[in-house]
Amino acid sequence: MAIELLECPVFDWTYGLMMWSSYLSVILALPLAFAHYHDGHGSPSHWKPPGPGDFRGPCPMMNTLANHGFLPHDGKNLTEKTVVQALKSALNFNTSLGSLMFEMAIVANPEPNATFFTLDHLNRHNVLEHDASLSRSDAYFGNNHIFNRTIFDETRAYWTDPILTPNMLANSKLARQINSRASNPQYTFTSKTEAFSIGEVSAPIVAFGNMDSGLVNRTLVEYFFENERLPTDLGWKKKQEVISLDDIVKLSQMITQATSLLTAKEGLVVRNRDLHAGFSFAHQHS
Ligand code: HEM
Ligand SMILES: [Mg+2]
Repeated sequence: MAIELLECPVFDWTYGLMMWSSYLSVILALPLAFAHYHDGHGSPSHWKPPGPGDFRGPCPMMNTLANHGFLPHDGKNLTEKTVVQALKSALNFNTSLGSLMFEMAIVANPEPNATFFTLDHLNRHNVLEHDASLSRSDAYFGNNHIFNRTIFDETRAYWTDPILTPNMLANSKLARQINSRASNPQYTFTSKTEAFSIGEVSAPIVAFGNMDSGLVNRTLVEYFFENERLPTDLGWKKKQEVISLDDIVKLSQMITQATSLLTAKEGLVVRNRDLHAGFSFAHQHS
């Protein structure tokens, strides 16, 4: 902690001031330094909603981390160091996973060779933000990044038990895609979107659930989406195990499997002269 403090530019600045300025300027500088202290040094118990001028985006977790001060509260200047540190201190992600996520996100900043992005950059439609979100409207219908109660209720209709299973999470994803494709003439969902979306559907398990079973407490997930706040008040604690890319891959495979609408076992007995079997025969030979 002491070393972190010494590396902190705000502290360096305050420290410099203390060395050569008068007692009075130190007194004046301290509250300023302290106000900045939470940026990037958040805590699960400290939470402040965004104010005017603060950027927020379509990711409930990035917004949450900014609300807790793990990321800069204004949602700006998210560098690799800041993002890696935030994901580590808030959720126990290892450094390589945090770096990878940053690398994947940097395209959100339209500037070439950018070294940071903002939460506002994440709103750019069909860059990372996509249609059929669990809690946001499609860009075609309006705001694509603010929490949307109607959309989230659509999602929650498939969360039918206090303990969410991978199937329930997958069902809500599929339902959102079907509703979106049925109503949005500009519905877009590529294989890249699918990979991203699978990650997002797994994310509540990563943060709040059991990585082996894929089960997660519904109340924690709803509280998180609705308040953009870590569910500390409901008894949640950061995972003790460090989370790596391997964990994410395993979980993504679990959710991918759950999004298949095929059942595992052959339950259907197909007779030779069955109409459907005939169709499939015709397809194979055309
Ligand atoms: C560098 C870090 C991250 C970036 C840049 C990022 C970015 C995004 C973006 C752009 C979306 C919007 C996709 C859409 O249109 O639905 C999104 C959604 C989402 N993200 Fe993140 N994210 C990050 C980390 C995380 C983490 C660590 C979690 C939780 C463990 C998380 C949870 C979610 C969830 C649950 C959604 C889906 C929201 C919805 O469908 O309504 N994200 N993220
Ligand atoms: Mg979206």
